[in-house]
Amino acid sequence: MPYAIEVKAGLDYWLCVCGKSGTGLCNGSHKTTDKTPSKYTPTKDETVYVCGCTRTGNSPFCDGTHKTPK
Ligand code: FES
Repeated sequence: MPYAIEVKAGLDYWLCVCGKSGTGLCNGSHKTTDKTPSKYTPTKDETVYVCGCTRTGNSPFCDGTHKTPK
């Protein structure tokens, strides 16, 4: 399932792409993987949906792939 994160315009966010943070925001857990977080600076206040399954085709954002069989 994706992680819904409320972001504010102009702030920098490091979004998790490894699926290990458990929140959608990078917490350093990727250091045991070959992944690196994705920097995101929104241009407006919004809610983003960060992929939690690591199968998205639009990393770091959810594209609905988690709804399909593995
Ligand atoms: S904890 Fe997942 S990319 Fe950093």
